[in-house]
Amino acid sequence: MAKYKIALLPGDGIGRDVMDAAMVVLDALSLDAEYIEGDVGWEFWKKEGNPLPDRTIELLKSTDCCLFGAITSKPKDEAEAELAPELRGKGYKYYSPIVRIRQEFDLYANIRPCKSYKGNPLNYRDDIDLVIFRENTEGLYSGVEFHPVPESLRAAIDEHSEKMRRFGDVSNEDMAISMRIFTRRGCQRIVRMAFEYARKYGRKHVTVAEKPNVIRETSGMMIREARKISQEYPDIEYDEVNIDAMAMRLIKNPQDYDIIVTSNMFGDILSDEAAQLVGGLGFSPSANIGDNYALFEPTHGSAPKYAGMYKVNPTAMLLCVKMMLDWLGERDMAMNLERAIAKVIEEGRVRTYDMGGNAGTLDVANEVVKKLE
Ligand code: NAI
Ligand code: MG
Repeated sequence: MAKYKIALLPGDGIGRDVMDAAMVVLDALSLDAEYIEGDVGWEFWKKEGNPLPDRTIELLKSTDCCLFGAITSKPKDEAEAELAPELRGKGYKYYSPIVRIRQEFDLYANIRPCKSYKGNPLNYRDDIDLVIFRENTEGLYSGVEFHPVPESLRAAIDEHSEKMRRFGDVSNEDMAISMRIFTRRGCQRIVRMAFEYARKYGRKHVTVAEKPNVIRETSGMMIREARKISQEYPDIEYDEVNIDAMAMRLIKNPQDYDIIVTSNMFGDILSDEAAQLVGGLGFSPSANIGDNYALFEPTHGSAPKYAGMYKVNPTAMLLCVKMMLDWLGERDMAMNLERAIAKVIEEGRVRTYDMGGNAGTLDVANEVVKKLE
């Protein structure tokens, strides 16, 4: 029996292209793993009215971790129109498979490394090496939302907050509410994971980016918990920056940051900004990590216009493979792969279109394989 069981969910569009690149590299590394491919994405929405069939959830449950490509999602009307005729009007609702997986497996940390590899012409600066820890299960993306706002909810809020009275002349229909829910547990575990990661990988500095001066209760809770936890890690520097200032400082002096911890929506925005500093979507991997399961996915989407053309940059996906190897405990293999990726970028002979070259997705993967030790 193989040492690991890994689920592969290529999904839609270029998800397949980059997954094939990942397999070229994994085969060359001879990781002792069994790979099982699963169904996810738009195709299954159209055919079955479910972009993440139950059998796929079961498959994930039987594996150690998952490598994920990308999925296509479209607005409500288009989703309904593309459903197989016999499924239309039967109440099927599209939902985000990736969000569902994060919730189902409680993958509470979204880790996004942003590193400028030497020689990448797309680098904003050549000395950036930071990792964003984004809380992945709560905050503004909890999905607890209201429109129109139920009268009973308004009455309850009125009772507890004078500030709500300012909106007294607005009808329920003319108001929408999205809840920003933080839990102490949620704050603690993302912060703790960031400090543990710092210790494990020899990083020196953790910065929490929130907005406690304005969003006093939620951001405040994150900051208060972070301060307490930071006491347990005297070997690691700790500081706090307001999220708006953080967005600016990431442009001004990104080289000063090491690990940045933040909540769900702030992290979503900040990590896209940071990704652009080191070459954009083709260079941005991410890991969704819980206590018992992990899913690795490039930050980019399915880029339909390039689907199946094997033109896009697989580097983000190959860096996901590196993160997966690390998470599995195959540290040497992970470092070997990262060195090989770095060499290919630095040499600059084999480059996809986004880097100004004309090599294909699999050419890059094969070149990385040549550089493995
Ligand atoms: P996208 O990330 O798919 O592509 C935007 C553009 O970025 C592409 O047209 C391409 O020019 C470039 N790009 C993306 N990945 C690249 C790579 N590896 N190498 C080189 N260039 C790359 O975002 P878009 O176009 O907004 O969305 C397309 C579909 O993907 C939509 O259906 C969207 O909902 C979905 N999506 C899925 C995500 C996921 O699976 N996690 C994340 C973002 C979007
Ligand atoms: Mg995003």
